[in-house]
Parts: sequence; structure tokens; C-alpha cells
Amino acid sequence: MFEIVADSSRQLIAAGVLLSYCACCIGSWRGYRAKQRSISHATGDRLIVWASQSGNAQQLAQQLQQQLSQAGKPAGCLALEQLSSSLLQKSTEIIFIVSTFGEGEAPEHARFFLKKLTVECSLQHLKIHVLGLGDRRYPEFCKFAEQLQARLIAQGATLSLPLMTVDNMQAEQLAHWQQCMAAHFAIDAIAASQYQPSWFHATLLERQHLNPYSNSPGLYKLRFQTAYCDWQAGDTVRVHPFNNPAFSTREYSIASSAASGYLELIVRLNYDAKQTPGQCSGWLCTALNINDSIVFSRCTKPNFHATAHDKPAIFIGAGSGLAGLRAHLAERPKLSQNWLILGERCPRTDRLLPEELHQWQRSQHLTYLDYAFSRDANTPRYVQDYLVEQQQRLISWLEQGATIYVCGRLQGMGRGVQETLTQLLGAEQLQSLQQQGRYRTDLY
Ligand SMILES: Cc1cc2nc3c(=O)[nH]c(=O)nc-3n(C[C@H](O)[C@H](O)[C@H](O)COP(=O)(O)OP(=O)(O)OC[C@H]3O[C@@H](n4cnc5c(N)ncnc54)[C@H](O)[C@@H]3O)c2cc1C
Ligand SMILES: Cc1cc2nc3c(=O)[nH]c(=O)nc-3n(C[C@H](O)[C@H](O)[C@H](O)COP(=O)(O)O)c2cc1C
Repeated sequence: MFEIVADSSRQLIAAGVLLSYCACCIGSWRGYRAKQRSISHATGDRLIVWASQSGNAQQLAQQLQQQLSQAGKPAGCLALEQLSSSLLQKSTEIIFIVSTFGEGEAPEHARFFLKKLTVECSLQHLKIHVLGLGDRRYPEFCKFAEQLQARLIAQGATLSLPLMTVDNMQAEQLAHWQQCMAAHFAIDAIAASQYQPSWFHATLLERQHLNPYSNSPGLYKLRFQTAYCDWQAGDTVRVHPFNNPAFSTREYSIASSAASGYLELIVRLNYDAKQTPGQCSGWLCTALNINDSIVFSRCTKPNFHATAHDKPAIFIGAGSGLAGLRAHLAERPKLSQNWLILGERCPRTDRLLPEELHQWQRSQHLTYLDYAFSRDANTPRYVQDYLVEQQQRLISWLEQGATIYVCGRLQGMGRGVQETLTQLLGAEQLQSLQQQGRYRTDLY
């Protein structure tokens, strides 16, 4: 499909791909064995299985496992793609905690579970309960949870409790599910207050228009002063519009390191079809005044936190996606190997934070900086095109243990990167990278 590689280097690349594939197979086989061992140690016949894009379902699953273990009722806890037919056969009860992503789809790591589950696998011995996490603003609310439950029932499983759903991680709904779990397993319930987000105040100090001459919608960097500096690169904040109760929260990737002492965001001023500014982005980018104070809560995103600081990192994003990548770059140690591929529209008007990025390039904090401009008259490119052009570099960095971080819009950019990586590396290697925590995404 991709005919970009020069003939003379084809054999070299093919050998590279083969070698890295073999290394990856051995790595993932070892990882798989280690995981199987840890699952079987922890497991009686009760399992908690999660599928999570941004970490909520995973956190709830681990919390339930801890609660059960404290009550002397141990349960294994694992990701959905680790649930093999033999584990399904051995288990008597499984609690599934799964979110829905994309357009009514499974989270990325769990995409192949239902396809791989053979219809011959009879589950008549198995009792299940499914908790779906979702958001009612999406047309297919908790669809993956429904699909999963329907399929397991079709294969003979019975319900120990009916399907429950939680909309937008609402604290009352979570507390209700917790009470049901506590009653079901005869354990103490977690205090409802644990689900309340911890709110903090921050004051707008500065707002910088990053693309004032662009035809693209405005992109703004906002700097807030706050006493609360307790986040890791990869985390997000929710904006709580208490001063305008007519709209609910919106989430934004944190664009700065906590060590900087400032909370920074990079926000795209959204417009709808009638050119009305988006409620929250309109407020943040145009209405909020300098010195105004607003309320945030932090969302921790373990699946988008940094992995090994001593290994190379490949950062891929477009537009506001720079936010989550910038926080990571700010925290990466000196002399680390960092490759940033950044997408925008126009080379003349859409170079984001040029001084900062070029300074990082000069000081070699950015080993490579590749701009992909989709409306460049000479060489229009998307970020994923660089992966094809620099396939050798990609493979060599992955061989050195690199982690790939992707941040920004799911439609277009996120999907395009995923498709290209699948074509270049193969679905199995990409899944293996994901399982090793080396393909990390914050997509919206
Ligand atoms: C994990 C994550 C990280 C994100 N990071 C960033 C970032 O770093 N920078 C950035 O610019 N954007 C980011 N976003 C997108 C951001 O959260 C907003 O969706 C975006 O700013 C548009 O919001 P708006 O209110 O301006 O637009 P609106 O047009 O008002 O709303 C946009 C969408 O919000 C939903 N919505 C509409 N009305 C309501 C309502 N009454 N209550 C609740 N929801 C409603 C609808 O799905 C609508 O399509 C992120 C999103 C997620 C999920
Ligand atoms: C890009 C994106 C797409 C989503 N699509 C859906 C959807 O189709 N249906 C739904 O109910 N929720 C959808 N959600 C909401 C998530 O399921 C919800 O935020 C959930 O709490 C995430 O849990 P997790 O952190 O375990 O992945 C979507 C969220 C994002 C960011």
C-alpha cells in the first residue's frame, strides 16, 4: 500500500522489520507468560476484567480487587485481551468493567476480544456482571458493554447482576454500583466521597493566541496560577463551570509539568456549523478575563503517563494535541532521545510555539522535529506520512525500546496514525507494544 521506500533500501528495511518482529514476539511471549503467572497466582475462580481507554475502568477494577482482597475474598484482575478461553473456562464468576470509545466501539486494547472469542466456547458455568462506563453525549451510550454482555449471554453465561452503566463518571452512579458490589460480595462499601473529584482553583495569568494569522480556528495557550501542582505529564483537567451551571464539564490535556508551577492548557476555539463558538472553549479562549479564577479537577490518566525515561520517545500529535505531548517533553530528562511529529495546516501561519520548539531542537532536547502541514502547497503531509517516510528510524527507535505517545483528535489524526502503524508494523506488533505500555494514546 505504501510505495514510498526506495528500492535499494527495501531489503534492509524488510530485514529490520523481521528482526524487530522476532524481538517483539519473544518480548511479548515472555510478557504473556509473566502475566499468565501473575493472573493464576491471584485467581481463585473469580475475576475482575477491565477494558479502558483512559484509565477509569482500570482504576475501578483495581479498586474492587483491593477491596475484595482486604475482605479475604481474592480475585484476579486483568485486561480484557488477557482473558483467554481457558481462563473463561476456569472462572465461575467474572465482573466486567468496560468503557466505550470511538463511535460505540471497544477501547483500543480490547478491540479484538469479541472477534477472537470462538462461538464454540461454552460459558454455561459462568456468572457475569457488566458495568459499562460511557457518556450520554455520544449516540451509542455504553454500546460496547451491551455488546459484550449480549455475546457472553449468547454463549451460555448467566447474569449475577443486571448490566449497570455510569454516565460521565458521575459520583452518585458510581456510589450506587459500589453499594451493589458491596451487597453482592458481602463486603464494606467504599465511602461515596472517594468518587468526588478534588476541585481546585486556578487564576488565569496569561492567554496567548498561538495562530493569530491562521485561517484555522484559533488555538490558545492559557497559563493559570494555582497552589495545586499535583499532576503527572499525561493527566488532564476538567473545567467545572460553576459560574455557568447551564453547561457541564469539559476535559483538557495538561500542557505543562507540575514542576513549572503553572497549569497550562492549549485550547482550540471550537465553532459549530452556525459559527457559534463552543461553550467551554469559547469561554476559555475569549470570555474568561485575566485574573479570573476558575475551578478544575484533575483526572489521572495512568495509560498516558510516561514510561521509561531512559528510553527514546516518539511524540505524535496535531493542533491541540501538542498539549499532552508538551507536558511529557517538559519532563523528559536532558540528553534523552525525543522525536516530535506535529501536524497543523499551513506552514506560514500554523507553526505552534516556534521559539520553544526550536530552542528544544537547538539544545538537542528534540532529536528530531518534523512538521506535517496538511495544506502545504508544495508537500502536503499528515503526521502519519512521516512514519512512512521515516520507517527505518521508527523501527530502529522501537528496537531501542521507544514508547509512542499520540495525543489529539481521534477522528482523522488518531485513527490515521493507528492505521499507518498497523500497516508498517503489523497488528500483532502494535498490540504487543500496547500491552507493554509502549503505545500510549490520549485521543478525543
Ligand atoms: C481526554 C480529553 C482531552 C482533551 N484535551 C483537549 C485539549 O487539550 N485541547 C482542546 O482544545 N480540547 C481538548 N478536548 C476537547 C474538549 O474537551 C472539548 O470537547 C472542546 O473544547 C469542545 O468543547 P466546547 O464546549 O467548546 O464545544 P461545544 O460545541 O459546546 O461542545 C462540544 C461537544 O461537547 C458536547 N456537549 C455539547 N453540549 C453539551 C452539554 N450541555 N454538556 C456536556 N457536553 C456537551 C458535545 O459532544 C459537543 O459536540 C479534550 C477532550 C477529551 C475527552
Ligand atoms: C473519543 C471518545 C469517544 C467516546 N465514545 C463513546 C461512545 O461512543 N459511547 C459512550 O457511551 N461513551 C463514549 N466515550 C466516553 C467514555 O466511555 C467515558 O469517558 C468513560 O468514562 C471512559 O472510561 P475509560 O477511562 O475507562 O476509558 C468516549 C470518550 C472519548 C474520549
